[in-house]
Amino acid sequence: MVRPISGKDVCVRAAMLCLALWTSAACHAGEVEVLHYWTSGGEAKSLGELKGMMTNRGHSWKDFAVTGGGGQNAMSVLKQRVLSGAAPAAALIKGPTIQEWAELNVLTNLDAMAEFEKWDALLPKVIADQMKHQGHYVAVPVNVHRVNWLWANSAVLRKAGVTSLPRTYDEFFAAADKIKAAGFIAVAHGGQDWQDFTVFESVVLGVGGAAFYNNALVQLDKRSLASDTMRQSLEVFRRLKSYVDDKASGRDWNVATDMVIKGKAGFQFMGDWAKGEFLAAGQRPGVDFSCSAAPGTDTAYTFNVDSFAMFQLKPWEAQKAQGYLAYLLMGQDFQEKFNLRKGSIPARLHMDMEKFDACAKASSKDFVAASKAGTLVPSIAHGMAVSTAAQTALRAVVSDFWNSDKTTVGDAMSKLVLAASTKPR
Ligand code: GAL
Repeated sequence: MVRPISGKDVCVRAAMLCLALWTSAACHAGEVEVLHYWTSGGEAKSLGELKGMMTNRGHSWKDFAVTGGGGQNAMSVLKQRVLSGAAPAAALIKGPTIQEWAELNVLTNLDAMAEFEKWDALLPKVIADQMKHQGHYVAVPVNVHRVNWLWANSAVLRKAGVTSLPRTYDEFFAAADKIKAAGFIAVAHGGQDWQDFTVFESVVLGVGGAAFYNNALVQLDKRSLASDTMRQSLEVFRRLKSYVDDKASGRDWNVATDMVIKGKAGFQFMGDWAKGEFLAAGQRPGVDFSCSAAPGTDTAYTFNVDSFAMFQLKPWEAQKAQGYLAYLLMGQDFQEKFNLRKGSIPARLHMDMEKFDACAKASSKDFVAASKAGTLVPSIAHGMAVSTAAQTALRAVVSDFWNSDKTTVGDAMSKLVLAASTKPR
């Protein structure tokens, strides 16, 4: 639970005023330690924007980077730190996991800042709600990543005679066959459980549609998990494996992206943090690479919101630096500079998208359209949809199915039903 505004929060209010005034001599520098897992080329560049803004204001930045895409390693390290009483100022914590940390009463109440800066008017409700525990802000959103993307190397497709981006799985497999026949790897993939799960969720969305995705992977409806549509989804998912090279096991996501960047592979199913890698490599959307909705998902949008939860700190200087961090994260300047490099779009509404590329503009438009059409769905693979325990259990079933040809579709569906009943620890 999170305390309502109290005396301590008066300090936070003072910090806000300090922020706003900027002139106060009392606004001395402080240190912020931030736990994250943004260690790839594109991720590091985007985080560099934040570090620069904090240090430009005189605060010092203590980087607490834990490698491992998807963030599983980072969450394990964070648990140890918090349990030993050494929580960082902020940590990259997302979706329902925010609630799990807030229940431990270790997060700072950010309502003073949120009211001061009018966050409720600046955020889509679906995002603002995720940042609150019992109605109190405890986290700050920095972006919206779209997960249901298919990335392609334009030259590879051209050489293989693939003249249009696949919109259905029939078209996808026909294109993938041409790419293989031309001597390229059709699908670049990293054989890690969270990546297997990322591909799987896009397949379920593409085969079954948004309503089915919500029933099966958000509501964890057992009938849906054991339905013919899930059977079809698992069959498409398994068929994809024959288009992946035999060295995929353990490969990091950005190494797979680099295979597409360098023209070794034609496609990658990945969220648009992959675009950050293309951009960091100097590649241009629509010229060197293309972004398109994963097959069957062009009218749907799987969202993954990166956010920083703020931990309760004692030292006044640290509180002020933390308050300034929260202020910066929601600011227009950061939301633009960071997202231009991260591959995502701003979480903040009414941003000028002029500097963003066609992929980002499409993502921004599709987010609004999907929200209106009821086809905006939370990514289960990236911690937006269910409890950490259920996500972990379902992810293990999906990854085992991907890795073990002996596991039949029927076995996998039975295991999904079982995993779905995993209660939050
Ligand atoms: C996601 C995270 C992204 C990116 C990706 C790869 O869960 O939201 O920001 O870091 O993992 O690590």
